[in-house]
Amino acid sequence: MMTWTPLHGQPYQPIPYHPNRIPVADALAASAAFRARMDERRTVRMFSSEPVPVQLVLDAVAVANTAPSGAHQQPWTFVLVEDPAVRAKIREAAEEEERISYRGRLGEEWLSALRPLGTDEHKPHLTDAPYLLVVFQQRFGLRADGTTYKHYYGDESVGIAVGMLLTSLHMAGLAALTHTPSPMGFLSKVLNRPRNEKAFAVIPIGYPADDAVVPNLVRKTMDQILVRI
Ligand SMILES: Cc1cc2nc3c(=O)[nH]c(=O)nc-3n(C[C@H](O)[C@H](O)[C@H](O)COP(=O)(O)O)c2cc1C
Repeated sequence: MMTWTPLHGQPYQPIPYHPNRIPVADALAASAAFRARMDERRTVRMFSSEPVPVQLVLDAVAVANTAPSGAHQQPWTFVLVEDPAVRAKIREAAEEEERISYRGRLGEEWLSALRPLGTDEHKPHLTDAPYLLVVFQQRFGLRADGTTYKHYYGDESVGIAVGMLLTSLHMAGLAALTHTPSPMGFLSKVLNRPRNEKAFAVIPIGYPADDAVVPNLVRKTMDQILVRI
């Protein structure tokens, strides 16, 4: 494989593509098993501090990096934070923002949408979970010489990558929380990120606490989400 460089201006270079063809019976069995496993995924807000093999997280990031992206620009950076002092700093800043949000900034409609989730300004998961993975979206490309180039469909691309990350973590038996303290500007400062990056989500990763609970949510049925024409 070639090393990665921005594709801008490079010629089209097709290569053969022959992925393994899975027999239909195997595909149906694997797909049903995967669907059942994914139905068990829940956002967890109560973590054990039990250690997690870092390779599981690295594998999930590598999976996220296989996501499709606008013009193959892969506009994402993942910052893996284990350092307890940095996690404490992030928690302090996030709780500060969340205090303001929950005490009025969000507005009644938003607060009412959040009520069934039981969330508030306290974010112990930011220091309890062994890892924080902070996902940054590169709003534009930045070359080593400081020149920039446009990124296309950055929101969609990073969203898809994070979906694949969460799927991968779940399949490895890990729990995660997609946390979006708003605004998230403090993350760029605490983690010293370059000017083209903005925080997309903070994802605590670990095993659920022994006494973890989750809100009793019902998912939409296939009839409600799928239109077949
Ligand atoms: C983009 C996005 C932002 C989210 N932000 C937060 C958040 O800031 N805090 C939180 O506790 N949960 C957050 N969540 C988690 C959702 O509340 C959760 O996915 C939803 O309630 C469904 O629950 P489930 O993931 O267990 O199925 C977020 C999820 C997404 C996709």
